[in-house]
Amino acid sequence: MSNDEPKGPPRRDFLGIAVGGSAAVFAVAAAYPVARFIEPGTRPRPGPAVVGKLIEFPPGTVRSVMVDDRPALVVRAQDGSFRAFSAICTHLQCVVGYSPERNQIECPCHRGVYSMDGLNIGGPPPRPLEELQVTVNEGTIIVSAVG
Ligand code: FES
Repeated sequence: MSNDEPKGPPRRDFLGIAVGGSAAVFAVAAAYPVARFIEPGTRPRPGPAVVGKLIEFPPGTVRSVMVDDRPALVVRAQDGSFRAFSAICTHLQCVVGYSPERNQIECPCHRGVYSMDGLNIGGPPPRPLEELQVTVNEGTIIVSAVG
């Protein structure tokens, strides 16, 4: 046995492990959103969460808020009524946002479009946004799951 022989595992084994490991990580990263789309899982229902004061939501306002650890949109119409929606796209769970230029809710990932009623009106989203419940209590806005 000569001293020129490498110590430790052969280079080919190391390369095989590295490539195989990378492929496994990539496969999990690619499969996770698909699995979440097919079976959303069981997360606790959001809220109730205080998202602000009534004075912070004048009529015609759309604000991004957090309900627990989840993004949501609170919409106050010109007539003063409130609606709120989960800001998680029903396609592959990207975070949607309000476009004041087009007065619609848009998903940046695959150009999904929702109306201000939360209805899916363009692109790949298969369902409307999840609607949340808005309660006004002594000037405080509270958002929670419906029902
Ligand atoms: S994740 Fe929103 S359109 Fe695809």
